[in-house]
Parts: sequence; C-alpha cells; structure tokens
Amino acid sequence: MAATSLGGVTLRRIAEVFEIEKRRYVDAHPRSLQRTGHGIAGFYDGVPMHWMKDWSMPFPFLVESAQGATLRDIDGNEYADFCLGDTGSMFGHSPPAVAAAIVRQATQGLTYMLPTDDALAVGRLLVERFSLPHWQIATTATDANRFALRVARAVTGRPKILVFNGCYHGSVDETYVRLVEQRAVNRPGLLGQTTDLTQLTRVVEFNDLAALQAALAHGDVACVITEPVLTNSCMVLPAPGYLDGVRQLTRAAGTLLLIDETHTISTGPGGYTRAHGLEPDMFVLGKPVAGGVPASVWGFTDEVARRLDAVRAQTVPGGHTGMGTTLSANALALAAMRATLEQVMTDEAYRHMEQLAGVLARGLQDAVESCRLPWHVARVGARVEFICAPGPLLNGTQAEAAHAPALEQAIHLALLNRGCLIAPFHNMMLVCPATTDSQVARLQDAFSAVAVALRD
Ligand SMILES: Cc1ncc(COP(=O)(O)O)c(C=O)c1O
Repeated sequence: MAATSLGGVTLRRIAEVFEIEKRRYVDAHPRSLQRTGHGIAGFYDGVPMHWMKDWSMPFPFLVESAQGATLRDIDGNEYADFCLGDTGSMFGHSPPAVAAAIVRQATQGLTYMLPTDDALAVGRLLVERFSLPHWQIATTATDANRFALRVARAVTGRPKILVFNGCYHGSVDETYVRLVEQRAVNRPGLLGQTTDLTQLTRVVEFNDLAALQAALAHGDVACVITEPVLTNSCMVLPAPGYLDGVRQLTRAAGTLLLIDETHTISTGPGGYTRAHGLEPDMFVLGKPVAGGVPASVWGFTDEVARRLDAVRAQTVPGGHTGMGTTLSANALALAAMRATLEQVMTDEAYRHMEQLAGVLARGLQDAVESCRLPWHVARVGARVEFICAPGPLLNGTQAEAAHAPALEQAIHLALLNRGCLIAPFHNMMLVCPATTDSQVARLQDAFSAVAVALRD
C-alpha cells in the first residue's frame, strides 16, 4: 500500500502547505519572476549551474547583495542566511578583512604562477593551525581530495580507496559508490560514467568497525577517505571511540587516513580533527578557507612526504602528475586565505558560533517536541540540522532513509517565506560570526510556525 505520510506528516497536509507557500513566494518575488521565472537566457536549462534549480522555490530569486549573515534579493526581501553558500561563506558574507585583502590584491595582479608574500604567511598558518607539516593549495575541495587520493595511491602502490556509505567528497569519481543491500553499486545519476567505480572503491557503513576491518583485510586499500561526521546525507555522528577505531585499523592495514574537514570545520578553529585529537595522514579543507574565494588546502605528514619523495625520484622528472589546474594557489586566493586564517577564523568567532548554534539547536528540539513530531536535531559545532525522522542515525543507509524530500521542500520554502534561508540539499543551518540573537530567534519562530502548520 502506498505511504500516506512522510516524517509523521500526512502527504495531504504537506501538499497543502507547499501550495500555500508557493503562492506566497510568487507574490513576494514579482521582479525575480520576471527575470528568472522562465529561465535565464543563454544558460542551459536556464541557470548558470544546474543545482541552482534544486532549491525549494519555484524559481530562484536574484540576489542583490549579502553582508555578514544577511542576504537581500532584488524584490526587497531580506533573509537571515543560515545556508551561507552551503559553507562557502561559513564565516559570513564578505568578511571585512577578506574584502580588504581582495581589494589590496586586485590592483597587484591576480594570478601569475609564482608565490607572493601571502604564501609565506599561509604556509606557516596552515602548519600551526592544523598540525601537519606539508601543504598544497588547490581551487576546490573536490580537487584537493582528488589530488590527495592520487598521492595516497602513489605512495602505497595500492589501487583502491575506501568510502563510507552515504559520503560526499565533491565530484571525485571514485567516491560515487554506494551500498545497496550490502552490495557496492555505482551511484545512480552519474553522467557519462564509462568505468565501473566499484572496481576502484570499497564501501562500508560508517560506525561499523568490523566491516571496515574486513574490507581492509584485502590489503589493496590505499586510503580511507571520510568526514569525521557524515554531513552530506542526514547528519551521522561517530559513535564513541569509533574514529579511534578507524585510526587503529587503518594503521594496522597500512592504509592512509584522509580526513575531509570541508564541512566539519564548523567544529572549531582546527576542525573536528584538532577538537577531538584525530591523527590523519592527510587532511583536506575547501570552501570557506579563503572566505568564499575559490580555494582549498590539503596537507600531509612527514611520513607521507618522505614516501612521496621516494616515488617522485623514480618517475620522469617534469612529467604530468595528474595534479594541477592553472589557477590553483593564485595570488588572489592566497591573499583571501591569509586574511581568513589570520583574522576571520578566530577563537572568538568560533565561541560566538558555538554558543548561538547551541541556542538554535535547543530551540528547534523544543519545537519538535512540543509538536510531537518524530524528528530530531543534530549538531556539529556551528552546524545544526533538523532531521524529519527519529535519531540519532547510525550510518548512511539510515541517513538516506531519513530523508523526506517533499516534506523538507515544504519546510524550506515556508522558512524562506518567513525570512530564513537554509541549505537546499540538506536541512543544514549554519551560524556564522555575524549571525545575531534576533536572527536565531527569527528562525526558531519560523520553524515553530511551520511545525504547527504541518500538524494541522
Ligand atoms: C565534505 C565535502 N568535501 C568536499 C566537497 C566538495 O567541495 P567543492 O564542491 O567545493 O569541490 C564537499 C561539498 O559539499 C563536501 O561536503
């Protein structure tokens, strides 16, 4: 029999709420409707990037400007922004120090394939902050992951990587493998894929050390790549001791451990890694590391560097390594990164983010409980998420099952109509250094109103 409810809410009520909110959105965005409602001319499918159509609204609004935690559209609407560019602006839109660095660099050349003074500072700052001695700069977290995995395979001489079911590490082909009924399968939807990725990648559930041990026992895994908290499906936190277990098992198997902190940098100035004393062989951070200017960093240990030197000594000097992209480590990115690391990602900023995110999480949980909805709230530092299913979630399979797309779409649109923007692909709400108490209160009130409306 077909389901009649989702996340404890009837499908009828979800559809009613969505219709009401859709009309409200259209009424509040007449100018955007005129300019984007029929697609933006010149772009395939009407948008510069296809995921701009994945938001809950019937058509995207045009952004006029954004500053701190506030975003304005061309229709005169103002939003408390809890999406923050899906973490790209985790530290607020145009932090003054980053804007000043960009202005300074803008008149001195933007890219020349040579280091500037900022590179000297960034090298020191990365070593100090993340406690790894060797770093490289790339342009996206996807690139950084791809390059780090390449190095892992080169230094171990092993062909495979291992991912956790439900993971996301950017558009790195080998990570697009899922578990379906205990079998590894290529993730559906990957366009133009001609190789069977399951030949390159092992996949096991998060929080299952026995499965990890069995997968590593084949002796062919170069690297385990993971976020310390799975953030890209519904949020899955590590069970106590789990990440220590991952470290022990990878070491015993001669497999490198890559921690991707691109989202979990929400935890603190040194990411989840520093806050929880993790000991990765490789570390990746993208998106917010240059305050929203495209840039990423990847670092590794002395041991990896020593092995990399040995491999490079045997390869053709000057040959193509498979790592690159011309604009990586450009002068503008390094100027923005230096400003971000020195002046924006500060202890003080994180104290504010942590405190206010705690307030937000408690407020949302109270609303869930008072409406008796079978939902829960999860949090990793400044990143808060409501999940329309009971929790906590244990692994990727549970996280996928917890998704309630139609229900989430109605909630997202209703929040937006109440002046709160949250991330489109998950139910993520980020608190940045500029987020105010009143913005958090606005989101809590909006969320309560929507929860009540869905209960009617
Ligand atoms: C954990 C993680 N790693 C890597 C990426 C890829 O980042 P980018 O799209 O900037 O390459 C993402 C993107 O959401 C991510 O969540």
